[in-house]
Amino acid sequence: MPRKISPLSALIRTARAAVKKSYAPYSKFPVGAAVLAGSGKIYAGCNVENASYGLCNCAERSAIFAAASAGERVIRAVAIYTPTATPTAPCGACRQVINEFGPTALVVSVCDSAERTEATLDQLLPAAFGPANLR
Ligand code: THU
Repeated sequence: MPRKISPLSALIRTARAAVKKSYAPYSKFPVGAAVLAGSGKIYAGCNVENASYGLCNCAERSAIFAAASAGERVIRAVAIYTPTATPTAPCGACRQVINEFGPTALVVSVCDSAERTEATLDQLLPAAFGPANLR
């Protein structure tokens, strides 16, 4: 019988694979991310740092910008992987960027232990400023 693969486990697998592309020579804190978009496709991203530190881009935003650049406008879920003992929560800037396309998206953080966190974006960023405020 073929094994059933849920989109969530594929998403987490993609985030784990994406960390291999991380460019983090300054922080030495590699991050991989993946987003499940409205079309059902999964987009990967990693953190990309810069010698001008303020220009570093988080893995989540790399994945979201890849999805948006492919024409996606809905984010259903985000997975974040760090090779650490505890899961890593998305930073405030990434929460705001997720909110643009996925105000109720599921956000899952996984690491190298069995520990994982799961929350919806509105739990992570209550009372968010978003597209509706500009209508
Ligand atoms: N980073 C991410 O990619 N995602 C997060 O959610 C937290 C932080 C990156 C940014 C920087 O390259 C490094 O981790 C250390 O802050």
